[in-house]
Amino acid sequence: MDGKLPPCVIDVGTGYTKLGFAGNKEPQFIIPSAIAIKETAKVGEQTTRRLGKGVEDLDFYIGDEAFDATGYAVKYPVRHGLVEDWDLMERFLEQCIFKYLRAEPEDHYFLLTEPPLNTPENREYTAEIMFESFNVPGLYIAVQAVLALAASWTSRSIEGRTLTGIVIDSGDGVTHVIPVAEGYVIGSCIKHIPIAGRNITYFIQSLLREREIGIPPEQSLETAKAIKEKYCYICPDIAKEFARYDSDPAKWMKKYDSVNSVTRQPFSVDVGYERFLGPEIFFHPEFSNPDFNIPLSQIVDDVIQNCPIDVRRPLYNNIVLSGGSTMFKDFGRRLQRDIKRTVDARLKLSETLGGGRLKPKPIDVQVVSHHMQRYAVWFGGSMLASTPEFYTVCHTKEAYEEYGPSICRHNPVFGTMT
Ligand SMILES: Nc1ncnc2c1ncn2[C@@H]1O[C@H](COP(=O)(O)OP(=O)(O)OP(=O)(O)O)[C@@H](O)[C@H]1O
Ligand SMILES: [Mg+2]
Repeated sequence: MDGKLPPCVIDVGTGYTKLGFAGNKEPQFIIPSAIAIKETAKVGEQTTRRLGKGVEDLDFYIGDEAFDATGYAVKYPVRHGLVEDWDLMERFLEQCIFKYLRAEPEDHYFLLTEPPLNTPENREYTAEIMFESFNVPGLYIAVQAVLALAASWTSRSIEGRTLTGIVIDSGDGVTHVIPVAEGYVIGSCIKHIPIAGRNITYFIQSLLREREIGIPPEQSLETAKAIKEKYCYICPDIAKEFARYDSDPAKWMKKYDSVNSVTRQPFSVDVGYERFLGPEIFFHPEFSNPDFNIPLSQIVDDVIQNCPIDVRRPLYNNIVLSGGSTMFKDFGRRLQRDIKRTVDARLKLSETLGGGRLKPKPIDVQVVSHHMQRYAVWFGGSMLASTPEFYTVCHTKEAYEEYGPSICRHNPVFGTMT
């Protein structure tokens, strides 16, 4: 496809969908992955919804508009990163393409993303929708973690461009720790933790509820979320942080101002300890979840220790952050310090056990923070889809018609600078 229109890149997350054209630095749209359909309509029963033929059923809304539509039920086609309802997904994509990107799908190659451990069947469903309903000329389904690794290249030199690393992808619903070697996910070693953006928001909401009385109850969640995104950060040591706030509250406390959406009265919230306590649950999950008490740094170390021995050092050396919930200030710094402590303690122990005769080679722990973290997956996709190589790895409509959807079960790795 030379000289043709740029590929479309769509990353549908559990909470937000990022969409735009390849080659751009930022997605053109970031919209909630929500769809509102008429409450009476049953999925799959609506009329006129063959696409690409000029007839579109527009009786549904996606993104922010989904929440404003009265008489409609709001649904989320994706849960924990995986598509749950393909019919809703098809309609969701329909509006992403026609209404938001304003693109003719016949004219663009597409790069879509998938979570770790997506099933081959899901790739086939995606292929059916894209080739049959939307008639796209080419499709590539990329693993989110691999795109996030590629996105981290922006912060390093050419020599640092590797598709080996461990990705911490923390979005709204779940945090994945995903080791990748030479572009291939080491699936058996992936771990999840049940702490992500939503949990931090809930935790802040509960802290505020105990103290602040002025927040309208129906706005308490959005207030907690806004406070989280605006004021929260990660501290090195909570005991010291409490002491700092207590000795000079004026310096550390913040005020969050908003307006009651019903009465239009302004209200104001004092923001204190929650600034650092909120994201601290990555490192002390038991603060918010009594059933789970392993810190993120420990999980990362466990994952690397489970991987084949020859990739462990390169993995410690390239711990890449991705997703909205890694945006807290000093997240990477704290993670690096805590992992390093665990690693050094183990090396020290093995030295002691060896009677001090063998001095183990130190391990370089490197957490890579970079500018593109918030949309790392989308940006990695945008970058890779703008290379000529992209067209050589895409599945084409011709191949789909000849061999069927099973061709999309496998998507070759590309982009390593070899
Ligand atoms: N500046 C910020 N600081 C902290 N959190 C943020 C910031 N910006 C966004 N977030 C949080 O990031 C989360 C959304 O992240 P992201 O878009 O990566 O998730 P997603 O891709 O929809 O979900 P998933 O990857 O779990 O499927 C939300 O919880 C949001 O509150
Ligand atoms: Mg995501």
